Amino acid sequence: MAKTFPISLLSFCLLLHFFFGKCLSSPLAPALYVFGDSLVDSGNNDFLNTSAKANYNPYGIDFPPGPTGRFTNGKTFADFLAKYLGLPFAPPFLGLSEDQKSETITGMNYASGSAGILRETGSAIGTNLALEIQIELFQETVKNYLPKKFKTKNELLQYLSKSIFVVDIGSNDYLNNYLQPAHYTSSQLYSPVQFAGVLVKKIKESLQDIYNLGARKFLVFNIAPIGCTPALLSVENITSGCVEDANQLVSLYNEGLTEMLQDLGTSLQGSTFVQAEFYASSYDVIQNLYKYGFTSRSPCCSVNASTAQCYPDVQPCQDRTTHIYWDAVHPSQQSNFLFATGCFLGSSQCTPLNILQLTQKQ
Ligand SMILES: *[C@@H]1O[C@H](CO)[C@@H](O)[C@H](O)[C@H]1NC(C)=O
Ligand SMILES: *[C@@H]1O[C@H](CO)[C@@H](O)[C@H](O)[C@H]1NC(C)=O
Ligand SMILES: *[C@@H]1O[C@H](CO)[C@@H](O)[C@H](O)[C@H]1NC(C)=O
Repeated sequence: MAKTFPISLLSFCLLLHFFFGKCLSSPLAPALYVFGDSLVDSGNNDFLNTSAKANYNPYGIDFPPGPTGRFTNGKTFADFLAKYLGLPFAPPFLGLSEDQKSETITGMNYASGSAGILRETGSAIGTNLALEIQIELFQETVKNYLPKKFKTKNELLQYLSKSIFVVDIGSNDYLNNYLQPAHYTSSQLYSPVQFAGVLVKKIKESLQDIYNLGARKFLVFNIAPIGCTPALLSVENITSGCVEDANQLVSLYNEGLTEMLQDLGTSLQGSTFVQAEFYASSYDVIQNLYKYGFTSRSPCCSVNASTAQCYPDVQPCQDRTTHIYWDAVHPSQQSNFLFATGCFLGSSQCTPLNILQLTQKQ
């Protein structure tokens, strides 16, 4: 029953893409545009007045030459995805000069730590780029910068329709909004079911706005089981299991999101919506950590309980590949690697298509 797998030029190229992020042939998509929060921020918050920053040691300890503003020890999900697509890491929009903005056609990153689907989310800890502001910056990109690199409107639209658009946002609408009644009124105004509905309606409008600017291929994340993060475990003084009340809150959103993405995929002509099953995949890793090569659910770095982030300049754990979490809320590079790899090539992390299949869709 032995089967042979001839290595065609294509799959050889894919292997090169996969392991080295490059190949002699062209990238699998012309660009990667990233919207979201600290899970994928590549440095935008370095330029904002906020305490949600990660541009200090030990953040970036596995990202030579060091801290960039990424909220993890190394690469984010978006970085791995860029590598697999054969593209450079999407640079933070706020860090680019006018000339760089005009020259960059391989994608940009608008994500911002503490940002949410709702404008007020995260405002108690400073300024951020809420999702609708990120879309305004993308609009600026499409209207002011990209046209300089394309001869015709049609060429620009072709390019946008083949590019990949990642939207990874929503956990702050709970962690830095609904679950913080001292700073935000949302939990007085809305029941959990109503609040999930508000978020789904709002992100739907945002996705339509991105579509109207030319995007066709979307990857949209659902929200991770925030009740399993070290931050929430320590608030509740528990050392095992998860805070299931918090998980149930985000599950309401996740149910609505799945249904909404299916609707959008049929109503927006030419669009494809892939959902990143971040909740189920993360939950599986947390419940079966040894199976995935992890040994600890505790943060790798020493964490300031009031921010859930690493204390500056304190040496983190030695073996960072065995920790699911880097600080008290953010996944380690190793977690990002596992999820990105599965989403790119596997069948359960990203559905109904993986990203390789999404790039091949006409
Ligand atoms: C930054 O935010 C803090 C706290 O909200 C505020 O006191 C300060 O004036 C702000 N700084 C600037 C330069 O806007
Ligand atoms: C957790 O423990 C701390 C200190 O022991 C205590 O002040 C706090 O009220 C506890 N929180 C809960 C939710 O039990
Ligand atoms: C923890 O973070 C808070 C908020 O930024 C800060 O005021 C406090 O000084 C930090 N604690 C320590 C021990 O650094």
